[in-house]
Amino acid sequence: MLLYRININTLEDPLQNEKLLEQVGPERRNKVIRYLQPDDRKRSLGAGIMIRKLLGENGLSESSLKYSENGKPVADHLYFNISHAGDYVVGVVSDCEVGCDIEQNVNAPLEIAEHYFYSSEREYIEAAVDPGKAFFTLWTLKESYMKMTGRGMGLPLDSFEIVRKDARFVLGKSPEKPGFFRTMEFEDYIFSVCNESDFTLNQNEFFDIL
Ligand SMILES: CC(C)(COP(=O)(O)OP(=O)(O)OC[C@H]1O[C@@H](n2cnc3c(N)ncnc32)[C@H](O)[C@@H]1OP(=O)(O)O)[C@@H](O)C(=O)NCCC(=O)NCCS
Repeated sequence: MLLYRININTLEDPLQNEKLLEQVGPERRNKVIRYLQPDDRKRSLGAGIMIRKLLGENGLSESSLKYSENGKPVADHLYFNISHAGDYVVGVVSDCEVGCDIEQNVNAPLEIAEHYFYSSEREYIEAAVDPGKAFFTLWTLKESYMKMTGRGMGLPLDSFEIVRKDARFVLGKSPEKPGFFRTMEFEDYIFSVCNESDFTLNQNEFFDIL
């Protein structure tokens, strides 16, 4: 498993420096400039730069990039996924289906857990010293699974359960397909990965791009 990261503060706003847009293809360029906020443009540009780099490192060009029915970017013989939040764009490359999610641990919307999490998941949050961190840990784990399957939010949050077991997180009730999880923190970000087969994740072993 390889981990990649871009801090978007290393990028200028692509509307102020249009040369930056030349680092990505026309589809991504159009996506970037549609965002109204500079940080959204930077995250989207960062995502485009990251995808191009992951493809390039594996001998592929942007023409190999396709989107699944639910919008997951995919390429032949390359398993990858990206996520962005706050200052960061992160990416993972694996040897089987993979999904990842990053969130910044600020203002956790705990009411989401009230409505859409299993009672065991709510209990995990309620028992935690830092309920916000516990919420985002479960949230990123759930999103990483939804993104691994490719269904994204098309897979309801309450259709599967994440359980803490032997110092790890595993799938509980109703998994659509198997998934193996790892989660880590850096700064005030929580980052989780779900892979189709078991794997290890070395804390903070990111390749920082740019
Ligand atoms: C995937 C999804 C859960 C991501 O939500 P998020 O937390 O806001 O975003 P993240 O930062 O973690 O990830 C975004 C990235 O995941 C990737 N992605 C998009 N859809 C994905 C999917 N279904 N599965 C896996 N990855 C996906 C993209 O690279 C996207 O970044 P980009 O738009 O800049 O290229 C959400 O966008 C979703 O549910 N999308 C599916 C929508 C859908 O079902 N559409 C129906 C057909 S159009």
